Amino acid sequence: MSNMFMICTLLFSALAILAPLEILAAHWQPLAEGYYWKSCPSAEQIVWKAVSAAVRKDPTIPAGLIRLYFHDCFVRGCDASVLLKTTSSKNPTELEDFANRGLRGLDLIDSIKAKVEAVCPGIVSCADIIAFAARDSTYKAGGIYYSIPSGRRDGTVSIESEVSALPPPFLDVPPMLQFFTNKSMSVKEMTALSGAHSIGFAQCRLVSPRLYNFNKTHPQDPTLDPKFASFLKKKCPQNATNSVNLDSVTPNHLDNQYYKNLKRNMGVLTSDQVLANHPMTAKIVKKYIAYPEIWIQDFADAMVHLGSLDVLTGKKGQIRKKCGFVNH
Ligand code: HEM
Ligand SMILES: *[C@@H]1O[C@H](CO)[C@@H](O)[C@H](O)[C@H]1NC(C)=O
Ligand SMILES: *[C@@H]1O[C@H](CO)[C@@H](O)[C@H](O)[C@H]1NC(C)=O
Ligand SMILES: *[C@@H]1O[C@H](CO)[C@@H](O)[C@H](O)[C@H]1NC(C)=O
Repeated sequence: MSNMFMICTLLFSALAILAPLEILAAHWQPLAEGYYWKSCPSAEQIVWKAVSAAVRKDPTIPAGLIRLYFHDCFVRGCDASVLLKTTSSKNPTELEDFANRGLRGLDLIDSIKAKVEAVCPGIVSCADIIAFAARDSTYKAGGIYYSIPSGRRDGTVSIESEVSALPPPFLDVPPMLQFFTNKSMSVKEMTALSGAHSIGFAQCRLVSPRLYNFNKTHPQDPTLDPKFASFLKKKCPQNATNSVNLDSVTPNHLDNQYYKNLKRNMGVLTSDQVLANHPMTAKIVKKYIAYPEIWIQDFADAMVHLGSLDVLTGKKGQIRKKCGFVNH
């Protein structure tokens, strides 16, 4: 009898705890997989076809699209604020900031948007197109598939100074982690997502300080493998304005080679190399080298989490007609 009472009490208290949690959960995860299934059934397929065609022409384009997603989601949430063009010199947008100068894939997003608008005008947000394109890029470059919830709406505001939410490439792990914990992301997620640097480029300008003027006593960063430093110096002569592969071993393949490079002191950016050298992240790097399937899972999970940051849903924001401009 008393057992029965106990079970009932437990059940009721469990319900009392769970019911409000469900409401909260709805707030936390307002996006839904297959959001356009009824309103624009071909949306995701149009993105997939356009990304596939773009990759056939330029196998490095997935890097541009994955980075675009990161830069969108970390600044003012995944609201496509990164795509807004400056219309008044008094209000420079995110695109004007130095960190966004080298973004690639912007024209591709515009052309995908035009194709989607032609079939379902005013339905699919630019923010979701970025998220779909990043998901498809991950598959194209790494054979890594994850499904991405959608239903993001586009923001109407973009402010250059807010790009300071993006981490610069010369920090050690603790200060770099601040940028991620600020976005409720963990050290594991930061380390897993940095694996995106297994594709794409960095401007020599960002690498050269490690090669030519590190500090007063060491012109060259001692955490760089000397042979790799010589290789980089050939690719990036002093004052060069070109770019260099972030992963010179498998430059267009999104894989755990990035972590293997770090282990051999072949990280291109300081922010890459520190992951292998700092105790907070070294163990994670080792795990991703030994168990590529764990990195794949962590990367996919973190990409989905990244896509949920500060999203606009329901009646907030708008569905832009053109990704570069707010609707009149
Ligand atoms: C952990 C902190 C991070 C720092 C400090 C950082 C910094 C950088 C820098 C400096 C570049 C070169 C940009 C240029 O040359 O103009 C770059 C490129 C890139 N980043 Fe990151 N990044 C970080 C995290 C991420 C994340 C989380 C992602 C995506 C999940 C990402 C994806 C990329 C990609 C794909 C490229 C190559 C872009 C291209 O080839 O166009 N990065 N990053
Ligand atoms: C973290 O967020 C706070 C409050 O929004 C901000 O003042 C601070 O500059 C952020 N730090 C980093 C490293 O982004
Ligand atoms: C230069 O960097 C090296 C390695 O980090 C360090 O040992 C040395 O003290 C630094 N020198 C100066 C002048 O900061
Ligand atoms: C690079 O530029 C600096 C500053 O403009 C200049 O002093 C230096 O001589 C240049 N180095 C080379 C190798 O061109």
